[in-house]
Amino acid sequence: MGQCVTQRILLCGFMGCGKTSVGQALAFRLKWDFLDTDAIIEKKEGMLIPQIFLEKGETYFRQAEAEAASQIARRKNIVISTGGGFLMHKKTCEALSQDESTSVIFLDCDFDTCYFRIKNSSRPLVVGNTPEALKEIFDHRSIIYRNVSTTQVGNSGLISEAVDEILKKIVVL
Ligand code: S3P
Repeated sequence: MGQCVTQRILLCGFMGCGKTSVGQALAFRLKWDFLDTDAIIEKKEGMLIPQIFLEKGETYFRQAEAEAASQIARRKNIVISTGGGFLMHKKTCEALSQDESTSVIFLDCDFDTCYFRIKNSSRPLVVGNTPEALKEIFDHRSIIYRNVSTTQVGNSGLISEAVDEILKKIVVL
């Protein structure tokens, strides 16, 4: 049986792995739209992510992610960069797993590179955890990213190399 044609691409991976940069470059190459799940939620809530975590809590944020997932599940010709915890939740995955035309790409980048990029950020998980605790979250999540993704791509070099590798692994019209 031939490989299914991809109509939407989800990028997943740990904070700082380059989902947004690679996603934007990929959307540009494909002439597709680009969306970022954090941006969707921030727009809907009228608040930035750290403020949502602070005022409404993480459970509320995860619910907002599940709602964002059902909104994007049927969109076509779109590249979606997801928050690092997006595919950790069953409801969110379920909303997206119905359709074979969704390619989920795991951007596999080592912890030290991710940590270097995020260590001074205001991301709630970074602010609220020691580097050692973050490494544990990284190790735990890496297994899940690998399991829920349809394709894995390294992102330790140039953005354009990751984009080329993704384009080699999927079928688009
Ligand atoms: C989170 C990652 C963030 C954002 C929120 C929670 C996580 O997105 O969704 O701070 O749980 O890993 P990025 O991966 O884009 O930084």
